[in-house]
Amino acid sequence: MKAVITIASLSRAGKSTIAACLAAEFALRGHNTLLVDCDPRADATAHFMPPEKIHSSLADALIGLPDRAGGITGETFPLGGVVSPTVVERLGIVPGHIRFARFERVAPTAILRLKAEVEDLADSFDYALIDTPPSLGLILSACLIASSHVLVPVTGSHDTPVGLDCLTEMIEEVHRSHPRLEALALAVDLVEPGTHLRTLRRQTERQLRAMFKTVITRRDEIAACRASHLPVQLYAPGSAGAALFARLADEVMCAVNQSSLVPVLRSEL
Ligand SMILES: Nc1ncnc2c1ncn2[C@@H]1O[C@H](COP(=O)(O)OP(=O)(O)OP(=O)(O)O)[C@@H](O)[C@H]1O
Ligand SMILES: [Mg+2]
Repeated sequence: MKAVITIASLSRAGKSTIAACLAAEFALRGHNTLLVDCDPRADATAHFMPPEKIHSSLADALIGLPDRAGGITGETFPLGGVVSPTVVERLGIVPGHIRFARFERVAPTAILRLKAEVEDLADSFDYALIDTPPSLGLILSACLIASSHVLVPVTGSHDTPVGLDCLTEMIEEVHRSHPRLEALALAVDLVEPGTHLRTLRRQTERQLRAMFKTVITRRDEIAACRASHLPVQLYAPGSAGAALFARLADEVMCAVNQSSLVPVLRSEL
């Protein structure tokens, strides 16, 4: 596997949309790609299937199969056993599920299991993308530990700098014990077309050094694609929204595949 990329942010910054559409873009380019939906609300999963079509999920692999009384059995599937195909060739998904909320209550030692399970799939996929919930709990720890890179979407919202402070503190903490984790540049999402980004760049340069050039502006086709259970590339082929994800994928692939990727965490400068 070339990279395991966690998409993380504390605000509603477009994480699930970016995880789903970037994963689709990687697969459409011919790379075997795995999307792991670690948010119990399963928003990234919704880009590929409605909830009633989810028969097995991340919870079955990391927590345990449900019993009839709504509890959990001790039995788990390997992560590879819960990968479902998607409408995009070469894109597999480990669907999210509300039951995965229980992960926050498991023994802290379980946070290493996602990494081990993803590593077991290393020969089957070129890239893995992981969507995360907007919190600093065990789920995010598990995702960061399992990852080689973290990509942080931001918006122009007033709480962006504070949220980034909290998140970068956690990324640095994980990085100290798992040095392979590198922070990619920030990706900007959900801004109106034509917005001036100078203030946002100034606000966020305190925490992370660089931003990708691509700005995912608000587009109707991006907003609408999830309800149709399609990534924007299939929902609106040739649209401006699809082109934005192609540009972002160019930048992310370039950053990930640079052998001498410069760490962008401030503390490492
Ligand atoms: N570029 C865009 N244009 C229009 N709508 C967008 C765009 N990006 C995301 N959205 C919409 O904005 C909302 C928030 O996006 P999304 O769910 O991807 O954010 P998130 O960071 O995953 O949120 P959360 O923190 O709640 O998990 C969704 O309804 C999504 O469809
Ligand atoms: Mg989300």
